Amino acid sequence: MSYPYQIKSIEQYHQDYKKSVDDPDSFWGAIAQHFQWRKKWDKVLEWNFKEPNVKWFEGGKLNITENCIDRHLATMGEKPAIIWEPNDPNDRVRIVTYNRLHKRVCQVAQMLKNNGVQKGDRVCIYMGMVPELAYAVLGCARIGAIHSVIFGGFSVQSIKDRLEDTGAAFIITCDGAFRGGKDIPLKSVIDDALVGNNLVKKVIVYTRTRTPVSMIKGRDIWWEDEMANAEDQLEAKGPISFPAEEMDAEDPLFILYTSGSTGKPKGVVHTTAGYMIWTTYTFVNTFQYNPGDVYFCTADIGWITGHSYIVYGPLAAGATSLMFEGIPTYPDAGRFWDIIDRHKVNILYTAPTAIRSLMGFGLDPINGKDLSSLKVLGSVGEPINEEAWHWYDKNIGKSKCPIIDTWWQTETGGTMISTLANVTPARPSWATLPLPGVQPILVDENGKEVIQKDDQGLWKGNLCIKAPWPGMLRTTWGDHERCRTNYFAAYENLYFTGDGALKDADGNYRITGRVDDVLNVSGHRIGTAELENAINMHTGVVESAIVGYPHDIKGQGIYAYVIYQGHHGDDELRRQDILQTVTRIIGPIAKPDKIQFVTGLPKTRSGKIMRRILRKIAEGDVSNLGDITTLLDPGVVEEIIKGRI
Ligand code: WT7
Repeated sequence: MSYPYQIKSIEQYHQDYKKSVDDPDSFWGAIAQHFQWRKKWDKVLEWNFKEPNVKWFEGGKLNITENCIDRHLATMGEKPAIIWEPNDPNDRVRIVTYNRLHKRVCQVAQMLKNNGVQKGDRVCIYMGMVPELAYAVLGCARIGAIHSVIFGGFSVQSIKDRLEDTGAAFIITCDGAFRGGKDIPLKSVIDDALVGNNLVKKVIVYTRTRTPVSMIKGRDIWWEDEMANAEDQLEAKGPISFPAEEMDAEDPLFILYTSGSTGKPKGVVHTTAGYMIWTTYTFVNTFQYNPGDVYFCTADIGWITGHSYIVYGPLAAGATSLMFEGIPTYPDAGRFWDIIDRHKVNILYTAPTAIRSLMGFGLDPINGKDLSSLKVLGSVGEPINEEAWHWYDKNIGKSKCPIIDTWWQTETGGTMISTLANVTPARPSWATLPLPGVQPILVDENGKEVIQKDDQGLWKGNLCIKAPWPGMLRTTWGDHERCRTNYFAAYENLYFTGDGALKDADGNYRITGRVDDVLNVSGHRIGTAELENAINMHTGVVESAIVGYPHDIKGQGIYAYVIYQGHHGDDELRRQDILQTVTRIIGPIAKPDKIQFVTGLPKTRSGKIMRRILRKIAEGDVSNLGDITTLLDPGVVEEIIKGRI
C-alpha cells in the first residue's frame, strides 16, 4: 500500500494547499476515492457556520472498520496492526496482526449484538490500555454503535455524568488497570457510578488485573465468556467474520467529552467519513508514515490523540501502531527508550510534559539504548518549550529526526497546524504551517482580522478557522445550541479555537495557549468552572477560584483560592479533604497543586471574579496588578498576596 495523497515536497505542499482552498470539493473528492465505500457520496461538502451545519460526503455509505481492517487483509493480513507493550516489561508482548484484529473485532461485534446493542446505541468504555480496548472501540464501530471512551483517570461523578448525558445502556470495562506500580480498580469505580442508574443493562468486564470484583447477576458479564460464545457462534458459520453495518458518511462514530470554560464537559461528536479521511490524511502526511514503519504514540485511548492516532488514523493507513499499557517512568525513566530499542520504533509521538519529566532524569536512562531506528519525532498537547524541543532533538533524535509540533484539539479530530516531517521546515516552539484544508485566521476581540503587526513583526490574535475541514466536530451530544454558542458564536462565520496565536510573514503559526478559562495541565484540558464546582461541593467551602500558573513539568499547575467556613481540622487536613473531594468528583488529574485559604476573592462591583489578578499572584508577579480600584473590596488583594503559597 502506498499513499497517493502523501505530500512529497514543499512545492507540492503549496500546490495542494492552494487546491484545497480553491476547490475543496475536488480536492477532498479525489482523496476520498482512496478509501472503501459501499456507495459513493452525492456531494462532497455542504456547510454553514451559522447553525452550524457541516456535512462531508453526504449520501456516501461505508463502515470505518472495513477501511481500518478488512481492506488490508488480502495484502497485509499477517502484518502487525497493533504491537502491545505491557506495563510490566517482563510480561508477554502481544503482536496483533490485521487478521487477528479482524477476528477479534468481529467477535466483539457479535458479542455486542448478543447482548442487545443496536446501531446508534451508546456504549461507554472504561478500560486500561489493553488491546481489548481497541477491539471494543472498533467492535462498536463495526455494528454502528456510538462509543464514548472514558479515560481511566476519571472517577465516579465524571462517569455518572457521561452515562447520563450519553444515555448509554452498555458499558465495557476491566476489573482493573495496571499503570506503573498501581493497580487501578476500574470495575469498582463503575459500580459506584451505577448506584441509582436504571439505564445501564449490561456491563462487560475484561479480566486484566484479577482484582476481586463484584459481579451482579443479569447485569455484569465476563468478556472472556462472551467472546468465547461469540467465537463458537461465528465459527459454526465458517471462517470468522461479522458483516459490518452500512453507515451514512455523517452517522456519529463516537462521543468524547472535553472540558470547556463553562459548565460540565461537552460531548464532542465526530462522524464517520470525514473523521476517517482527516485522521488518515493527517497521519500519513505529518509523520510521513511509510508502510512497514513502526509507529509509537504514547497517548491513552481515553483522549482524542489515542482515538485519532493510535486507532483510527494509523489503522486506516494500514500502519503498525504500538500501544503501551504503562507509564514513562516504570520500572524506570528509560522505559520509552527501551521500547524504542526493542521494537525498532521509527516514529515517536509524545507530549511535552513527558519530555520535560524525562529530562529531569538526565541522560543515564538513555545511555546504552539504541535509538537509531527513529526517523521522526512528534509532539502534541501544548506548546513545546524551546528547552524541551532541543533536548528531544539532540538526545532522542540525535539531531537527525525532524520534530513535528502538531497543534489540534478534541474538536478538530486531527492535526490542523504542523510541520510535515522532512517536507516543510520545523522551528522550535512553532507549530508552523496549516495542513491542506485548514484556513486559520487571527482576529481581535471584535472578530476583525488582525492587520497590524506587533513590534516583533508578528501578527497576534485569537485563532479561528474560516472554513470546514473533514475532521471537525459536528455537534455536541444532545445539545446542538451549546456547540453553536461555544465554538461558532464568538465571531461570525468562524470556528473559534479558544487559543491565541502568533503568525509570521511566511505564514507560520506559533500557538501561545488558551485565551479562555481553560487550563492545560500535562496536556489535558481542565475547565476552571468545572473544577470550581467540584471544590465547592466540599462541605465548608463557600467559594473558590481556580487559575493556572507556570509549572516546570506539567506546563500549567492548578492554583486554588478557597473561602472556607467551619471548624473541622486544620488547614492541612482541610486541603486533604478538598483533594479527596476533587478526586471523587472529577478524578486525580484535576487535583490542585496549591490551595490557599482566603477570606474573600477580588471581585468587580458586578460580582465577577478578577482572575487576571489571581493569576498574577499565583505566578508570583505582584509588581503590576493593574487597576484594582474598581474592586468591590480592594483590601482583599493585599491579604491574598500575603498568604501566597
Ligand atoms: C488544546 C486542545 C490535540 C490533542 C491533545 C489535546 C493545546 C494541543 C498543541 C500544540 C500548542 C497545543 C491547545 C488546544 N494544544 N496541541 N502542539 N501546541 N498547543 O487535546 O484536550 O482537546 O486540548 O491543547 O491549547 O486548544 P485537547
